[in-house]
Amino acid sequence: MKAARIADGIYRIGANITNGDLFEGLWPIPDGVSLNSYIVRGEKTALIDLVRDWDEAPMKIRDQLASIPVDLKSVDYLVLNHLEPDHTGWLGMFRDICPGAEILTTAKGAAMVKSFHGIEDRVRVVGSGDSVDLGGGRRLVFEEIPNVHWPETMVTFEPGSGVLFSCDAFGSFGSVGPEVFDDELGPERHLFFERETLRYYANIVASFSVFVERAIAKLAGLDIRVIAPSHGILWRKNPGLIIDRYRRYASYARGPAEAEVTFVWGSMYGNTERVVDAVMAGLTEGDVPVTVHRVPRDHMSQILASAWKSTGIILGMPTYEYRMFPPMAHVLDDLGRKKVVGKKVFRFGSYGWSGGAAKELAEITAKYSWDFLEPVEFAGAPSPADYQLVKARARELAEIVKKTALPKQGA
Ligand code: FEO
Repeated sequence: MKAARIADGIYRIGANITNGDLFEGLWPIPDGVSLNSYIVRGEKTALIDLVRDWDEAPMKIRDQLASIPVDLKSVDYLVLNHLEPDHTGWLGMFRDICPGAEILTTAKGAAMVKSFHGIEDRVRVVGSGDSVDLGGGRRLVFEEIPNVHWPETMVTFEPGSGVLFSCDAFGSFGSVGPEVFDDELGPERHLFFERETLRYYANIVASFSVFVERAIAKLAGLDIRVIAPSHGILWRKNPGLIIDRYRRYASYARGPAEAEVTFVWGSMYGNTERVVDAVMAGLTEGDVPVTVHRVPRDHMSQILASAWKSTGIILGMPTYEYRMFPPMAHVLDDLGRKKVVGKKVFRFGSYGWSGGAAKELAEITAKYSWDFLEPVEFAGAPSPADYQLVKARARELAEIVKKTALPKQGA
């Protein structure tokens, strides 16, 4: 693949990771993820963000630099917007190849350059409002956006072109093909990246939503004409769309989200499972979209994405050894870690000889600010009345969700 030209002297070089590894050692990326770096060339040359030595990413980057052409040894500045190793893992090797390049990063970034890589020389600390003139009409201006999603994070803006190098902010999972710009993609690819942006946000950024909102407010004064993130596609036709998408996702942290329900269920011997269809019938009557996940079959990455976007959650699980069905306890713990709060929730399930799931559910979710409907629990198999009750509760939840969800976008 060739480098993609963004403006005079400004190029995107990227590597897709498609080797089946987990992102952060945790999140599946079945459709890959791109690591984007950027070249900005005036009289001097800056390289913005690096890659990790992962799935031959450094080799892919070097091949694309050659297509510009840019010799890595000619780089004057290496801007590190963010020190997470997906963007800096190759730093030691880069320093060996290009010892003269000065590293530009925040004060906290410089501390991480030392702690992760043992590098202290030719590191310049920059902060909000600082800039570097590359000559030839190209200038880099820095703005700190702490905790999106690490504390050292900043973005880099090139005022002449209006390109914002936003690092993880406005990024997504998903490999990027030869078409790297929003205006080059058809509707199907746009839908793919919308899904992968939500999953990326819910998995990686969601806990820091208040900082995302602060960052968006901070960047509002810039004349942004292109958003160039470190993962995913570049936005030059409609940069406002990805900003609005992130703003909307960040707002879900207050609870009300889309008028949708995430239904997570697990069953040991089929008694809890028996009423799943009744739940679905109630939601159909209530006319809300639902995303269904079965545990432990479905991965937390997908459950988080739909739960983050939903105003309502339904949990179906049996009692297991006086406590909750263990995979559901794991799901609930992860939802709390990612701050899935303020939801409208209904729970049902079977027990053998005594309850226990309800008590553990209350313990785990004590700080989630979830509003629970009256649960439906049954000993052994559900009775005909239980089917009716479960269906009615699902319908009731659907009505509450429609009343409390955010207004539709554009409404
Ligand atoms: Fe893509 Fe937080 O690193």
